[in-house]
Amino acid sequence: MRKRCGEGLGFDTQAIHAGWDGKHALGALNPPIYQTSTFVFDSVAHAQRVFSGESAEYVYTRGNNPTLRLFEQKMAVLEKGEKAVAFSSGMAAISSVLLSLLKAGDELVTSRTLYGSTYHVVTQLLPRYGITARFADLSRPGALEAALTDKARVVYIETPANPSLEIVDIAAAVEVAHRHGAKVVVDNTFATPHFQNPLALGADVVVHSCTKYIGGHGDALGGVAVSRDPDYILRLRFDFLCDLGGVLAPFNAWLFLRGIKTLGIRMKRHASNALAVAGFLADHPGVEKVLYPGLAEFPQHGLAKRQMRGFGGIVSFEVKGGYDAAVRFMDSLELCTIAVSLGDAETLVEHPASMTHREYPRERLTEFGFSEALVRLSVGLEDPEDIISDLDQALGRL
Ligand SMILES: Cc1ncc(COP(=O)(O)O)c(C=O)c1O
Repeated sequence: MRKRCGEGLGFDTQAIHAGWDGKHALGALNPPIYQTSTFVFDSVAHAQRVFSGESAEYVYTRGNNPTLRLFEQKMAVLEKGEKAVAFSSGMAAISSVLLSLLKAGDELVTSRTLYGSTYHVVTQLLPRYGITARFADLSRPGALEAALTDKARVVYIETPANPSLEIVDIAAAVEVAHRHGAKVVVDNTFATPHFQNPLALGADVVVHSCTKYIGGHGDALGGVAVSRDPDYILRLRFDFLCDLGGVLAPFNAWLFLRGIKTLGIRMKRHASNALAVAGFLADHPGVEKVLYPGLAEFPQHGLAKRQMRGFGGIVSFEVKGGYDAAVRFMDSLELCTIAVSLGDAETLVEHPASMTHREYPRERLTEFGFSEALVRLSVGLEDPEDIISDLDQALGRL
């Protein structure tokens, strides 16, 4: 049987079928986990054909592995790229991509709000190697143009951003960055390829923490980088993944392949639950402000509607009473769980200023688009009325 799994199929069909040539070992419906570190050759001549790239067979799992390749092929299709390379975590993907595109003397321009560890990489680690980061409010038109110098080689964007949910106009950023000779890298973890495809808007590289929605069950760490340029992905694989060694485990690739089959239906439910939660919070007298791109009053709702096919599952908000009230609210929850990470079936709640984003200087938080009173909710897949009732009882205790 010949498998149809390419262009022209819907997202859910591709999520289930793409990247598969129609036959796994012994006719299995699901791929085996190639739990092996190394691969066997028939002869030295055979090994030499594989080492020279003449044959696309496998050598060693740090370079590639059939379960990883399936996962990479699926991510390349879903992100509308040509090739992908998998990593052991989102941070391994992000740091490898940044190192691959930057060298001493270069500058990186980035969104003012970033995931905490990414902020640490660009402010603490890259400067050690002579690479400077410039932060700008890239949600403001004109801000990127003003921040780019002739040393800029990369524009790094999170959209929606963690935890401010700020949206950057990807196509507009690409136009400005390319005019200045800089590549655009987009962290698409929050939107997932179900709601947004940055490569189709002109971005050069997409990175993900697959630990989040791609896996979807909070049980595996992983990351991926996708590009339309196969030569770039080859260099990223051999010069950075292989030699720095942040390789995804075959079992985790298998878990992601399993998770991706339901990515579409999960994202629809995350988003409809998040919209219901955001609407409830926006109307609650104990809530100061709600950040969710799907709300009409969100400052960039129009851009989000144009750029995305849905608004995702993360809602950030401030309760009245500042930091103390935020902590009391979180400690009063009975169903929503206090934990970092996001994109799981369970609704997770965290306090960015003291948890994921504690690297940010306290006195300058508003400059970075959030505050000490901000609470981030990763709205899960539970019945929305149960999530809302838990939020309601916890707000009632303030
Ligand atoms: C937007 C974003 N990017 C990257 C990461 C890092 O991913 P990982 O934890 O898989 O290294 C995270 C983790 O929370 C994240 O939220």
